[in-house]
Amino acid sequence: MKSNQELIEAATAARENAHAPFSHFKVGAALLTTGDEIVTGCNVENASYGLTLCAERVAIFKAISENKKDFTKICVVADTDALTPPCGACRQIIWEFCGDVEVLMANLHGEGETFQMSELLPKAFDAKFLK
Ligand code: THU
Repeated sequence: MKSNQELIEAATAARENAHAPFSHFKVGAALLTTGDEIVTGCNVENASYGLTLCAERVAIFKAISENKKDFTKICVVADTDALTPPCGACRQIIWEFCGDVEVLMANLHGEGETFQMSELLPKAFDAKFLK
């Protein structure tokens, strides 16, 4: 089982690929599969700002495109003192594709903290309502 440190290192490396010419706010994500593989992502911004994709969603969509569908943890790394949490849109996507996984938030100073998705998105809307 990959360690939190390995996940943080993978997300930190992916963060270097961030395409963030507008916000200059670089984010990296690392998704851990049940098969103990890591899939990374970085934020990719667009001049039409609303088309920006966050690092977490890039990692998840990349994993899905590689037929990896079961996850245990997602790590988010940004260069902030207060640990950067996933945005609201990403919380919905993480819930939909990953369920109640652990979310490890970390910064570049070696600080990190883990939350459950159900803490970050209580009373989530999901497919079970669409019956
Ligand atoms: N961003 C992420 O990639 N993930 C987060 O958890 C928070 C925000 C990105 C989106 C945008 O490119 C930049 O950070 C500033 O909002």
